Amino acid sequence: MNKHLIDVDSLSTKEILEIFKIADSFKGVRQSDALKGKIIIMFFSENSTRTKSSFEIVCKKLGAEMIDFNMITSSTTKGESIKDTALNLNAMKPDAVIVRHSDSGMPSLLSQYMNCTIINAGDGLHAHPTQALLDYYTMKKYIKGKIKIAIVGDIKNSRVANSNIKLLKMFEEDISLVAPPQLMPNRDMKKFTFLDEVLDDINVLMSLRTQVERHNIHNLASLKDYAINYCITNETIKDKDLILMHPGPVNRNIDISDNALINPKCKVLEQVENGVLIRLAILSFLLK
Ligand code: CP
Repeated sequence: MNKHLIDVDSLSTKEILEIFKIADSFKGVRQSDALKGKIIIMFFSENSTRTKSSFEIVCKKLGAEMIDFNMITSSTTKGESIKDTALNLNAMKPDAVIVRHSDSGMPSLLSQYMNCTIINAGDGLHAHPTQALLDYYTMKKYIKGKIKIAIVGDIKNSRVANSNIKLLKMFEEDISLVAPPQLMPNRDMKKFTFLDEVLDDINVLMSLRTQVERHNIHNLASLKDYAINYCITNETIKDKDLILMHPGPVNRNIDISDNALINPKCKVLEQVENGVLIRLAILSFLLK
């Protein structure tokens, strides 16, 4: 039976901590043949910089062969259904498919038609488990006790927020949501409208991109107006004992200011670095 990673709860807390240990063991490793002979299909039909590149680097580091499946040049453009696309790719016997798609549920759908491991690299508004895992791994490097996090911004339209909230709940961490009402999800959680209501009670501040491409209606008068209240600046974090995070891509001076991005409290590029370690660990764990 293949093990999939559809969302963070595809794994137990014990398995997640094991993945973190494997990630630690990959520090400084340039090359391994742990996945030599494995065939991995990259099924990305939505743009990506961090997730796609880091998975590609990981495949190379582990000795796996990577196939780049391009929806735009595939026979889906001739009317082939996703079911038939999946059945045909499955007939080629890959070991894993890493899928990014704008439709929520695509990884789960592929897992019904394919006999290999399916890894969700971000689906619609639903989930982005590898991002949440690398985020939590990064938090745990800095916060030794209970994590008290404020997730700030367009939470309602964020698959990253969904997976992070699920994961942080699995580990019973303390979560606050900060957003203007129109970007706040309908969840029974601690909710705040403004940042200064939470800044003294947190040790992690996670900013999110305002995902205007996912807004059905105009939720904001303008990003500039949004930034007045929600852009994290050096002024916001100056005397606070916290780390600043963002999954990327960052809208500079909307989500986080230029100066705050180079503040030592800001761990955005460290998240990207840890993304390689976590994805090394995830592939090794799932395909071992
Ligand atoms: N965080 C993230 O998913 O970035 P990409 O869209 O660039 O992969």
